[in-house]
Amino acid sequence: MPNPFHASFGVSPPLLVGRDAGIADFMEALDDGPGSSGRATLYTGARGSGKTVMLNAIEDRAKERGWLVISETASPGFITRITRQHLPRLLRSFDPDAVRQKLTGITGPLNIGAVTWESVESHVVEAGLRNQVELLTDLLAEHETGLLITLDEIHQNQISELRDIATTVQHAFREGRELAFVGAGLTKTISGVVNDDVLTFLRRAERHTLGPVTPAEVKRALREPIETSGRTIGSDALQVMTEGTSGYPFLIQLVGAQTWRLHPRETEITVEDAEEGVTRALRRLGALVHEPALADASDIDKSFLLAMAKDDRPSKMSDIQERLKVNVNYASQYRLRLIAAELIQPVRRGYVDFALPYLREYLREHVAADI
Ligand SMILES: Nc1ncnc2c1ncn2[C@@H]1O[C@H](COP(=O)(O)OP(=O)(O)OP(=O)(O)O)[C@@H](O)[C@H]1O
Ligand SMILES: [Mg+2]
Repeated sequence: MPNPFHASFGVSPPLLVGRDAGIADFMEALDDGPGSSGRATLYTGARGSGKTVMLNAIEDRAKERGWLVISETASPGFITRITRQHLPRLLRSFDPDAVRQKLTGITGPLNIGAVTWESVESHVVEAGLRNQVELLTDLLAEHETGLLITLDEIHQNQISELRDIATTVQHAFREGRELAFVGAGLTKTISGVVNDDVLTFLRRAERHTLGPVTPAEVKRALREPIETSGRTIGSDALQVMTEGTSGYPFLIQLVGAQTWRLHPRETEITVEDAEEGVTRALRRLGALVHEPALADASDIDKSFLLAMAKDDRPSKMSDIQERLKVNVNYASQYRLRLIAAELIQPVRRGYVDFALPYLREYLREHVAADI
């Protein structure tokens, strides 16, 4: 029986759990019309928290409502891809004559004999981002629908292109156009980008952090695909798998995939399967998540993390300070750095904990030897 789980970044899960409220919020913003704050939304969260698949889910729902969607990644040249490929492609679904008429209002009269899409296209491309968005939203308004632009992996390196898109979206909002913008990125990157002066509209965007999902939701995310794919699982085995995920979305798929593949031809997934599946999933987690997450950490960052890894539970800041033999200011500076890097999180006054599941165990096993 084919494995329903896929532990791959950006691949939508067989069942997306714990995100219904977030999706409903966004759909409400589409219904509420221009001016609704949710029409500019940013999803942040750690690696593997489900940002990309959340964008996928929202795109699907918007399409179901008849919205047009441009889905891009904020890698260099994304503005050019939007103005030369996506927008002309979407405009092509309209009558060239209608496009030409609107285009005339934007770029001045066009002397084209026989109106074909090819003859209009070069003028469309010339119109640039803002004008093309105006053109398209004008045409869409006649059909009472709109345009959704999503941008994944938002990064500081692309700040000048981000400014371009921000300016266009800001103008469109001011003019009451049917446009929505949804971005996603790691929390630390989004905070950096949002503080850029020109990107005020991003600062006002609704920010949602995609955190862990509840045990009940994890159970549903595991059980339903297992049963739909023709196998069964008892509550004890399900409990073992669920605990193994720590509610971390990437681990739901990794534990699911590793457990399933042990005996794909047996009907029942046993407790032993579940235990072995969790063990194998955690072995892989280091290379897939912890190693990349630690790639930018300095030696001092790592010493701080190792000082935390001595504890089996959230660490007391004063203990870390003592272990590192540093003063309060120094320790709190590194605390902030590591929070911004999404490696740790404040839990209660004076305490910090790891932000990624099993990072503590990974550090104890792999990083201690490096420093
Ligand atoms: N809510 C969810 N329910 C079940 N599985 C999920 C959920 N969210 C994400 N996943 C699964 O977790 C994995 C990681 O998701 P995704 O690629 O969207 O993460 P990401 O936050 O975009 O990571 P990165 O920061 O590396 O881009 C995928 O295999 C996806 O199917
Ligand atoms: Mg992603």
